[in-house]
Amino acid sequence: MDPTKGALQPSGPFLPAEREAVYRAIFTRRDVRSQFSPQPVPDDVLARILTAGHHAPSVGFMQPWSFLVLHCLDTRHKVRALFEEANAEAVAMFPPEKQAHYRSLKLEGIVDAPVNLCITCDPDRAGPVVLGRTHDMAMDRYSTVCAVQNIWLAARAEGVGVGWVSIVDPIRLRQVLGIPERVIPVAYLCLGYVHEAYARPELEVKGWRRRLPPEDILSFDGWGGQRPDHPLLVAMRAAMGEAGS
Ligand SMILES: Cc1cc2nc3c(=O)[nH]c(=O)nc-3n(C[C@H](O)[C@H](O)[C@H](O)COP(=O)(O)O)c2cc1C
Repeated sequence: MDPTKGALQPSGPFLPAEREAVYRAIFTRRDVRSQFSPQPVPDDVLARILTAGHHAPSVGFMQPWSFLVLHCLDTRHKVRALFEEANAEAVAMFPPEKQAHYRSLKLEGIVDAPVNLCITCDPDRAGPVVLGRTHDMAMDRYSTVCAVQNIWLAARAEGVGVGWVSIVDPIRLRQVLGIPERVIPVAYLCLGYVHEAYARPELEVKGWRRRLPPEDILSFDGWGGQRPDHPLLVAMRAAMGEAGS
Protein backbone atom coordinates (compact mmCIF):
# COMPACT_ATOMS: atom_id res chain seq x y z
CA MET A 1 0.00 0.00 0.00
CA ASP A 2 1.46 3.37 -1.07
CA PRO A 3 1.17 5.80 1.90
CA THR A 4 1.39 8.82 -0.43
CA LYS A 5 -1.77 7.76 -2.32
CA GLY A 6 -4.46 10.45 -1.93
CA ALA A 7 -2.12 12.60 0.23
CA LEU A 8 -1.94 15.54 -2.16
CA GLN A 9 -4.18 18.60 -2.13
CA PRO A 10 -4.54 21.51 -4.58
CA SER A 11 -1.74 24.04 -4.11
CA GLY A 12 -2.41 26.86 -6.56
CA PRO A 13 -2.35 30.58 -5.72
CA PHE A 14 -4.84 32.07 -3.27
CA LEU A 15 -7.78 34.12 -4.46
CA PRO A 16 -6.82 37.84 -4.66
CA ALA A 17 -8.63 38.76 -1.40
CA GLU A 18 -7.01 35.87 0.45
CA ARG A 19 -3.56 36.80 -0.85
CA GLU A 20 -4.22 40.39 0.14
CA ALA A 21 -5.02 39.26 3.68
CA VAL A 22 -1.77 37.32 3.99
CA TYR A 23 0.31 40.30 2.84
CA ARG A 24 -1.71 42.59 5.10
CA ALA A 25 -0.77 40.46 8.09
CA ILE A 26 2.89 40.56 7.03
CA PHE A 27 3.10 44.28 6.33
CA THR A 28 1.03 45.51 9.28
CA ARG A 29 2.59 43.16 11.85
CA ARG A 30 4.47 45.23 14.42
CA ASP A 31 6.56 44.66 17.48
CA VAL A 32 4.23 46.05 20.15
CA ARG A 33 5.46 47.27 23.53
CA SER A 34 3.17 49.96 24.83
CA GLN A 35 -0.33 49.88 23.39
CA PHE A 36 -1.60 46.73 25.10
CA SER A 37 -5.20 46.58 26.32
CA PRO A 38 -5.58 44.75 29.67
CA GLN A 39 -8.46 42.76 28.09
CA PRO A 40 -7.57 39.04 28.40
CA VAL A 41 -6.86 37.03 25.27
CA PRO A 42 -9.47 34.21 25.35
CA ASP A 43 -8.22 30.63 25.28
CA ASP A 44 -9.84 29.88 21.92
CA VAL A 45 -7.99 32.81 20.32
CA LEU A 46 -4.72 31.86 22.00
CA ALA A 47 -5.29 28.26 20.90
CA ARG A 48 -5.54 29.35 17.24
CA ILE A 49 -2.39 31.43 17.56
CA LEU A 50 -0.42 28.61 19.20
CA THR A 51 -1.73 26.09 16.67
CA ALA A 52 -0.33 28.36 13.94
CA GLY A 53 2.99 28.22 15.80
CA HIS A 54 2.80 24.44 16.00
CA HIS A 55 2.33 24.23 12.21
CA ALA A 56 5.65 25.93 11.47
CA PRO A 57 8.25 24.11 9.41
CA SER A 58 10.96 22.35 11.41
CA VAL A 59 14.14 20.53 10.55
CA GLY A 60 13.41 16.79 10.13
CA PHE A 61 9.89 17.64 11.38
CA MET A 62 11.41 17.57 14.87
CA GLN A 63 9.04 20.25 16.28
CA PRO A 64 11.59 21.28 18.92
CA TRP A 65 9.40 24.01 20.40
CA SER A 66 7.48 24.23 23.65
CA PHE A 67 5.11 27.10 24.39
CA LEU A 68 5.10 28.27 28.02
CA VAL A 69 1.95 30.33 28.64
CA LEU A 70 2.58 32.86 31.42
CA HIS A 71 -0.35 34.59 33.09
CA CYS A 72 1.01 34.71 36.66
CA LEU A 73 1.82 38.33 37.51
CA ASP A 74 4.37 37.34 40.13
CA THR A 75 6.39 35.36 37.57
CA ARG A 76 6.11 38.19 35.06
CA HIS A 77 7.38 40.68 37.65
CA LYS A 78 10.42 38.43 38.11
CA VAL A 79 11.04 38.42 34.35
CA ARG A 80 10.58 42.19 34.28
CA ALA A 81 13.28 42.52 36.95
CA LEU A 82 15.60 40.47 34.69
CA PHE A 83 14.81 42.88 31.87
CA GLU A 84 15.57 45.94 34.05
CA GLU A 85 18.92 44.49 35.01
CA ALA A 86 19.92 43.48 31.47
CA ASN A 87 18.67 46.76 30.05
CA ALA A 88 20.85 48.76 32.43
CA GLU A 89 23.85 46.73 31.19
CA ALA A 90 22.73 47.17 27.58
CA VAL A 91 22.71 50.99 27.77
CA ALA A 92 26.42 51.00 28.58
CA MET A 93 27.23 48.94 25.46
CA PHE A 94 26.16 51.72 23.08
CA PRO A 95 28.36 54.71 22.20
CA PRO A 96 27.84 57.59 24.66
CA GLU A 97 26.04 59.73 22.06
CA LYS A 98 23.37 57.01 21.58
CA GLN A 99 22.73 56.20 25.23
CA ALA A 100 20.12 58.89 25.93
CA HIS A 101 18.20 57.86 22.80
CA TYR A 102 18.38 54.19 23.83
CA ARG A 103 17.12 55.04 27.32
CA SER A 104 14.13 56.87 25.83
CA LEU A 105 12.89 53.74 24.03
CA LYS A 106 10.30 51.45 25.62
CA LEU A 107 11.56 47.96 24.90
CA GLU A 108 9.15 45.63 26.73
CA GLY A 109 5.53 45.19 27.80
CA ILE A 110 5.97 42.22 30.14
CA VAL A 111 3.58 43.35 32.85
CA ASP A 112 1.35 45.63 30.71
CA ALA A 113 0.37 42.78 28.38
CA PRO A 114 -2.21 40.33 29.80
CA VAL A 115 -0.24 37.23 28.76
CA ASN A 116 3.37 36.34 28.00
CA LEU A 117 4.77 33.37 26.10
CA CYS A 118 8.18 31.81 26.36
CA ILE A 119 9.04 29.70 23.34
CA THR A 120 11.80 27.20 23.88
CA CYS A 121 13.81 24.79 21.77
CA ASP A 122 14.56 21.26 22.97
CA PRO A 123 17.56 20.00 20.97
CA ASP A 124 16.80 16.42 22.17
CA ARG A 125 13.17 16.38 21.02
CA ALA A 126 13.85 13.89 18.19
CA GLY A 127 16.97 12.07 19.41
CA PRO A 128 20.63 12.90 18.76
CA VAL A 129 20.63 12.53 14.95
CA VAL A 130 17.99 14.60 13.20
CA LEU A 131 17.29 14.59 9.48
CA GLY A 132 18.62 17.92 8.18
CA ARG A 133 20.45 18.91 11.39
CA THR A 134 23.41 16.64 10.74
CA HIS A 135 25.76 19.43 9.63
CA ASP A 136 24.41 22.48 11.41
CA MET A 137 23.06 22.06 14.92
CA ALA A 138 21.55 25.56 14.87
CA MET A 139 18.76 24.30 12.58
CA ASP A 140 16.60 23.39 15.60
CA ARG A 141 16.72 27.00 16.84
CA TYR A 142 15.96 28.31 13.35
CA SER A 143 12.92 25.99 13.31
CA THR A 144 11.76 27.42 16.62
CA VAL A 145 12.03 30.94 15.21
CA CYS A 146 9.75 29.83 12.34
CA ALA A 147 7.16 28.96 15.02
CA VAL A 148 7.61 32.41 16.55
CA GLN A 149 6.97 34.09 13.23
CA ASN A 150 3.81 32.02 12.64
CA ILE A 151 2.59 33.07 16.09
CA TRP A 152 3.39 36.71 15.36
CA LEU A 153 1.47 36.71 12.06
CA ALA A 154 -1.51 34.71 13.36
CA ALA A 155 -1.70 37.09 16.32
CA ARG A 156 -1.75 40.05 13.94
CA ALA A 157 -4.72 38.52 12.11
CA GLU A 158 -6.50 38.15 15.48
CA GLY A 159 -5.85 41.81 16.43
CA VAL A 160 -3.42 40.64 19.11
CA GLY A 161 -0.14 42.54 19.35
CA VAL A 162 3.14 40.76 20.07
CA GLY A 163 6.35 42.20 21.48
CA TRP A 164 9.57 40.16 21.57
CA VAL A 165 11.74 40.84 24.60
CA SER A 166 15.31 39.63 24.18
CA ILE A 167 17.01 41.89 26.71
CA VAL A 168 17.15 39.27 29.47
CA ASP A 169 19.86 36.88 30.62
CA PRO A 170 18.71 33.52 29.15
CA ILE A 171 20.31 31.52 31.98
CA ARG A 172 18.39 33.44 34.63
CA LEU A 173 15.21 33.32 32.56
CA ARG A 174 15.58 29.54 32.52
CA GLN A 175 15.84 29.54 36.34
CA VAL A 176 12.78 31.78 36.81
CA LEU A 177 10.65 29.59 34.53
CA GLY A 178 12.05 26.22 35.67
CA ILE A 179 13.28 25.35 32.18
CA PRO A 180 15.68 22.34 32.10
CA GLU A 181 19.31 23.14 31.30
CA ARG A 182 19.34 21.40 27.89
CA VAL A 183 16.35 23.43 26.70
CA ILE A 184 17.03 26.81 25.06
CA PRO A 185 14.71 29.75 25.69
CA VAL A 186 14.43 31.20 22.16
CA ALA A 187 11.79 33.89 22.46
CA TYR A 188 10.00 35.74 25.22
CA LEU A 189 6.82 37.36 23.87
CA CYS A 190 4.26 39.76 25.36
CA LEU A 191 0.74 39.41 23.90
CA GLY A 192 -2.39 41.47 24.18
CA TYR A 193 -5.08 43.18 22.14
CA VAL A 194 -3.99 46.43 20.52
CA HIS A 195 -6.36 48.93 18.98
CA GLU A 196 -3.65 51.07 17.36
CA ALA A 197 -0.12 50.25 16.31
CA TYR A 198 2.64 52.06 14.48
CA ALA A 199 2.39 51.98 10.69
CA ARG A 200 6.18 51.56 10.54
CA PRO A 201 8.60 49.93 12.98
CA GLU A 202 8.69 51.90 16.22
CA LEU A 203 12.49 52.05 15.98
CA GLU A 204 12.11 53.74 12.59
CA VAL A 205 9.44 56.17 13.81
CA LYS A 206 11.71 57.11 16.71
CA GLY A 207 14.77 57.64 14.52
CA TRP A 208 16.87 54.66 15.69
CA ARG A 209 17.22 52.86 12.37
CA ARG A 210 15.55 52.71 8.94
CA ARG A 211 14.45 49.87 6.70
CA LEU A 212 17.24 49.06 4.25
CA PRO A 213 16.65 49.59 0.53
CA PRO A 214 16.55 46.47 -1.68
CA GLU A 215 19.98 47.12 -3.19
CA ASP A 216 21.52 46.67 0.27
CA ILE A 217 20.06 43.21 0.77
CA LEU A 218 19.89 41.72 -2.73
CA SER A 219 22.80 40.26 -4.66
CA PHE A 220 22.94 38.21 -7.80
CA ASP A 221 24.85 35.00 -8.47
CA GLY A 222 26.86 35.09 -5.25
CA TRP A 223 27.65 37.38 -2.34
CA GLY A 224 27.87 41.06 -3.29
CA GLY A 225 26.88 40.62 -6.98
CA GLN A 226 25.37 44.03 -7.79
CA ARG A 227 22.97 44.60 -10.72
CA PRO A 228 21.59 48.11 -10.08
CA ASP A 229 19.15 48.06 -13.01
CA HIS A 230 17.96 44.49 -12.62
CA PRO A 231 14.17 44.32 -13.10
CA LEU A 232 13.83 42.41 -9.81
CA LEU A 233 15.41 45.29 -7.94
CA VAL A 234 13.15 47.78 -9.68
CA ALA A 235 10.07 45.65 -8.94
CA MET A 236 11.05 45.24 -5.31
CA ARG A 237 11.43 49.00 -4.91
CA ALA A 238 7.90 49.39 -6.30
CA ALA A 239 6.54 46.64 -4.00
CA MET A 240 8.13 48.29 -1.00
CA GLY A 241 6.54 51.57 -2.01
CA GLU A 242 3.14 49.88 -2.20
CA ALA A 243 3.73 48.28 1.19
CA GLY A 244 4.36 51.75 2.61
CA SER A 245 7.97 51.09 3.46
C1 LIG B 1 14.98 38.25 17.69
C2 LIG B 1 14.28 39.55 18.02
C3 LIG B 1 14.48 40.13 19.26
C4 LIG B 1 13.86 41.35 19.58
N1 LIG B 1 14.03 41.89 20.82
C5 LIG B 1 13.40 43.04 21.14
C6 LIG B 1 13.51 43.61 22.45
O1 LIG B 1 14.14 43.07 23.34
N2 LIG B 1 12.85 44.76 22.68
C7 LIG B 1 12.13 45.40 21.70
O2 LIG B 1 11.57 46.46 21.98
N3 LIG B 1 12.00 44.87 20.48
C8 LIG B 1 12.60 43.71 20.18
N4 LIG B 1 12.44 43.16 18.93
C9 LIG B 1 11.58 43.85 17.95
C10 LIG B 1 12.38 44.64 16.92
O3 LIG B 1 12.88 45.82 17.49
C11 LIG B 1 11.46 44.94 15.75
O4 LIG B 1 11.08 43.72 15.16
C12 LIG B 1 12.09 45.82 14.69
O5 LIG B 1 12.38 47.07 15.22
C13 LIG B 1 11.19 45.98 13.46
O6 LIG B 1 9.93 46.45 13.87
P1 LIG B 1 8.58 45.66 13.57
O7 LIG B 1 8.73 44.28 14.17
O8 LIG B 1 7.51 46.46 14.23
O9 LIG B 1 8.43 45.57 12.09
C14 LIG B 1 13.04 41.97 18.62
C15 LIG B 1 12.82 41.36 17.38
C16 LIG B 1 13.42 40.15 17.08
C17 LIG B 1 13.15 39.50 15.75
